[in-house]
Amino acid sequence: MDFKEILNKKKGLINQALEKYLPERSPYPQSLTEAMRYSLFAGGKRIRPVLCMESCRLFSSDETDVLPCACAMEMIHTYSLIHDDLPCMDDDDFRRGNPTCHKKYGEALALLAGDALLTLAFHLLTKLQSKNAMRVINEVSDLVGGGGLIGGQVADLQGEKEGGDREKSLHYIHLNKTAKLIIASVRSGALIGGAGRTDVLNLTVFAENLGYAFQISDDILDVTGSKEELGKSPGKDKEQDKLTFPSLYGLERSREILCQKINAAVEILKPYGKKAAFLYALTKYVGERKS
Ligand code: IPE
Ligand code: IPE
Ligand code: MG
Ligand code: MG
Ligand code: MG
Repeated sequence: MDFKEILNKKKGLINQALEKYLPERSPYPQSLTEAMRYSLFAGGKRIRPVLCMESCRLFSSDETDVLPCACAMEMIHTYSLIHDDLPCMDDDDFRRGNPTCHKKYGEALALLAGDALLTLAFHLLTKLQSKNAMRVINEVSDLVGGGGLIGGQVADLQGEKEGGDREKSLHYIHLNKTAKLIIASVRSGALIGGAGRTDVLNLTVFAENLGYAFQISDDILDVTGSKEELGKSPGKDKEQDKLTFPSLYGLERSREILCQKINAAVEILKPYGKKAAFLYALTKYVGERKS
């Protein structure tokens, strides 16, 4: 099986589990369920849940806890995208190849669909059986809260355009708005799999490099990609004068830094050998992705 086939198989497992945790007939108001499912099943790449599952698989083959945790990571990611697209934030009309949640359901329902996805994610995490369950919940809440993803989004909106230390701001934005959820996905998977201290630390460095690389490539694709490839509108960062890698370093240097981060990430996987072969391929794919 080649990389894309295995990735699709894993995505299939995740989609099945997401379907179970947020079925069409949920106890929520019908309009809320619809708006949540609209964004959740619009066809994301499922990178974060796959990373969570694969980080667990390095240490254990048991999927009872990791699958709900992986789904929680995708729900947090989807909530962050719904809110990111709102007119008060990036004001985007397209996401995952479809009109954004607020374009389809209105701002109020989109806001609440995001809230409900975030809340459902933590509800799923409370069901973890792992002895590390409390630690996972504690870490994930830190990594996606005000000192993590949300803090990064605030910095992204305030983006230091002139003066100040723009390099430092850009580092803060990418680390927090994007890398921290990727770190959360990898660490929680590893902890559920029973990884020891050194492995958790190594994988954190792996995830930080990968997460950082992921946002650099997102910034590059915003300049070079097409709407068809990306499923979202390109050129938005320039239009909104965002502080990004291409805006600060230019495309060529951004590509070099992307390459450095990917190389640093795969280096950490080498000692894990064959068990990490898929993670290795996934990391390379992030470096070369076109969508
Ligand atoms: C987009 O993430 C937002 C960023 C953090 C760069 P993805 O590129 O993973 O989006 P989906 O899930 O595939 O739609
Ligand atoms: C989004 O970053 C990061 C989060 C949603 C936390 P971007 O604003 O660059 O993502 P896109 O380009 O809209 O997908
Ligand atoms: Mg944004
Ligand atoms: Mg955006
Ligand atoms: Mg972007």
